Amino acid sequence: MPGPLPPEVEKILISQQALARRVKQLAAQISRDYQGLRPLLIAPLKGAFVFLADLIRHLKVPVEVDFVRLASYGASTQSSGQVRITKDLETSPAGRHLLIVEDIVDTGVTLGYLIDALRQRSPASLKVCALLDKPQRRRRQVGLEYLGFTIPDQFVVGYGLDFGEKYRELPFVGILRREG
Ligand code: PRP
Repeated sequence: MPGPLPPEVEKILISQQALARRVKQLAAQISRDYQGLRPLLIAPLKGAFVFLADLIRHLKVPVEVDFVRLASYGASTQSSGQVRITKDLETSPAGRHLLIVEDIVDTGVTLGYLIDALRQRSPASLKVCALLDKPQRRRRQVGLEYLGFTIPDQFVVGYGLDFGEKYRELPFVGILRREG
């Protein structure tokens, strides 16, 4: 049983059970589509590490995993549109089947930047698997080939997602209480 809700978390949006079920379904879909291809899964740090860890343990195909770290300038809850890579891949993406594994797509600016950067490196293919999509805040259109949940425009934490580096360890996705 999960512990009590932290007081700052208003309610659970997606339960641990619902997350587990959906992650398993996504893994089944990915396993079918990538048979024999040995994809390179690319997760942007930090938020995606929990989703990635659960996802790969349900895959039926061998994969490789690598990480990037992207930084966006501006306030923490809103991307300013300026993105840069602060930690690059350690695996060459040329000729590889790349699958970006992202925790949340909000404005789409971060993911859009990563897609552009990876496309320039001659991959064999490039697709995206996102756990959460918040389409109401989209500023840049991005294709999501695999999607876990579409969520409303509320600030969510848990299952890897943070607010000020807190709450990543929560086993569910919860809505953060707004002050004032
Ligand atoms: C989150 C998330 C995406 C990005 C989405 O990362 O993991 O990378 O924001 O926002 P966007 O669609 O508006 O660009 P964050 O910058 O919070 O870093 P973290 O994963 O280290 O918490």
